[in-house]
Amino acid sequence: MYRAPDHAHAVARPVLETLDAQLREQFELRLDRWWSDLEDGLRAVYPPAAQGELIARLVRLAASAFAARDPDLRRLDTARTLDPDWFQSEAMLGYAAYCDRFTGDLAGISSRLDYLEELGVSYLHLMPLLRPREGDSDGGYAVADYRSVRPDLGTIDDLKTLAARLRERDISLVLDLVLNHVAREHPWAQAARAGDEYYRAFFRIFPDRSDPDAYERTLPEVFPDFAPGSFSWDDELGAWVWTTFNAFQWDLDWSNPDVFHAFAEIILFLAGLGVQVLRLDAIAFIWKRLGTNCQNQPEVHAITQALRAVARIAAPAVAFKAEAIVAPSDLVQYLGQGAHHGKVSDLAYHNSLMVQIWSMLAARDVRLAAHALRQLPPIPATTAWITYVRCHDDIGWAIADNDADAVGLDGFAHRAFLSDYYSGRFPGSSADGLVFQSNPATGDRRISGMTASLAGLERATDPESVHRAIGRMLLAYAVVLGWGGVPVIWMGDEIAMPNDREWDAEVAHAGDNRWTHRPMMDWDRAESRHDRSTPAGQMFTGLTELVAARRRLPQLDASVPTEILPVQDPGVLPLLRRHPLGELLELINVTDSWRPWPGERLAEHGLAAATDAITGRRIEITADGQLWLPPYAVRWLIA
Ligand code: GLC
Repeated sequence: MYRAPDHAHAVARPVLETLDAQLREQFELRLDRWWSDLEDGLRAVYPPAAQGELIARLVRLAASAFAARDPDLRRLDTARTLDPDWFQSEAMLGYAAYCDRFTGDLAGISSRLDYLEELGVSYLHLMPLLRPREGDSDGGYAVADYRSVRPDLGTIDDLKTLAARLRERDISLVLDLVLNHVAREHPWAQAARAGDEYYRAFFRIFPDRSDPDAYERTLPEVFPDFAPGSFSWDDELGAWVWTTFNAFQWDLDWSNPDVFHAFAEIILFLAGLGVQVLRLDAIAFIWKRLGTNCQNQPEVHAITQALRAVARIAAPAVAFKAEAIVAPSDLVQYLGQGAHHGKVSDLAYHNSLMVQIWSMLAARDVRLAAHALRQLPPIPATTAWITYVRCHDDIGWAIADNDADAVGLDGFAHRAFLSDYYSGRFPGSSADGLVFQSNPATGDRRISGMTASLAGLERATDPESVHRAIGRMLLAYAVVLGWGGVPVIWMGDEIAMPNDREWDAEVAHAGDNRWTHRPMMDWDRAESRHDRSTPAGQMFTGLTELVAARRRLPQLDASVPTEILPVQDPGVLPLLRRHPLGELLELINVTDSWRPWPGERLAEHGLAAATDAITGRRIEITADGQLWLPPYAVRWLIA
């Protein structure tokens, strides 16, 4: 049995005094349940001398947040505790948008709930909206105050109201928790600049270049173009400060227990507003170790485990989502491997799947994807992937050399091919992406662009090429909808919006071409979403058909693993999901030609007379014994 020690209960008792016996008991049970996760996590990170005090402060904090919890949220806590796999359901669908670009402000979101409901959205990620620094704020990822909202979007009360409105419609509110860094203008950084020793210890500050130089020997650059290096000189500080991203984003020192405590407070504050999923931004970077790339260090997972334990004790309705855009072999750890199995983030972005979708479409070949995706270890059955076609960031070609080798490709050459292809330089490519952060030292060239532009819609001049571009977009979304997990649509993709050509008109954005795929919502275009003679209509209706089919398929619950069957035709990706109610076989033709799937293989899965769950139509095996798949076709076959 789990049990927290008496001294921990003793710390909580006075804080809970005014609550009734049942609530006090509830807290005690939760403290018992999560104690070892908390203690083990902290033990792996902080020296013994610091642990006792930190843990007592955290228990007190959790108890106060629990005592102050809104009754409606307390009810949600109970509901989620009864249904801890809520986010694994095949009915989950995510949507991600910048509040200002989607509806102007927070109040505007309430007027668009019908639109979201029409799509089937149950999870709404609003991009950073806590008060950022003025001017360039890296899209809000340089936070100056975690307890207020960007003034032009609304107030904390508006956010609370919106969270409640969303709850009424069973839509979970998802917000970013930027925990690797704060803005140079955040009060902690201000105090550090003013010489306050307590706050200087929140950051990684160096009097001269000796340590920065030593670290930089093994540190990759995140923004080599506009923010080279990982340290910035600050005149007021009179020192170098660690800045992984931009010079105005100061990395925090998580080896300081006060930083941990400060973020535990912020997490519980956001939980109190009704935020249901916290996206742990740039989580891979929070622990630094000399001689490494300072990403994915073991302490990252121990810290996440302990933070999650605090959240589970006080506000179990809150789930964690890791944003770790890392190499395939480092990715699964964010959902918990080894000692952290199932104890860290509940959700994590499936960056590898996203990259492989684009790779398959460019190469018209599934063999690399099939191999690479098969190499990923299984994820804990209690967790789920966030699957997505593209997001607000660039696409970096996270394809491992050994995966490429295994299928006879050269990793470097393939990554270069993908950059050429998606920037439209490769002969025959119809993609229209922009090169982001070209790094001559490594040969990396990441890509910016809306799904529609990368899929060739913008360059399509005749109906046939429009049809093919839409086919590629729907295929990409079918893969993420058919993978299991929470598929997330990025704003504008549902109506096939192209790149924003004016992305650099705003001064603070010029120079960061990720803004080309962060457009203003085109509500006029959305008006034609039911008109199948328009690209917007073809995309929207195709997508909503897929979403509806997904909801009917229990095989798509995230707890069911995706198996990648042996490839029969290099153009067809075969995915199998076994479920007590019957198998689901997904066949995905990533090419622009007709491709076969052998009929006898269908019989092995009891699918000789299968129906396509998307269209409801019976499949047809032709006289040659094959199931023929048209260009870019996706079939979800069930008995
Ligand atoms: C994450 C965000 C990205 C931002 C970075 C720094 O990767 O997605 O937009 O630039 O963190 O906060």
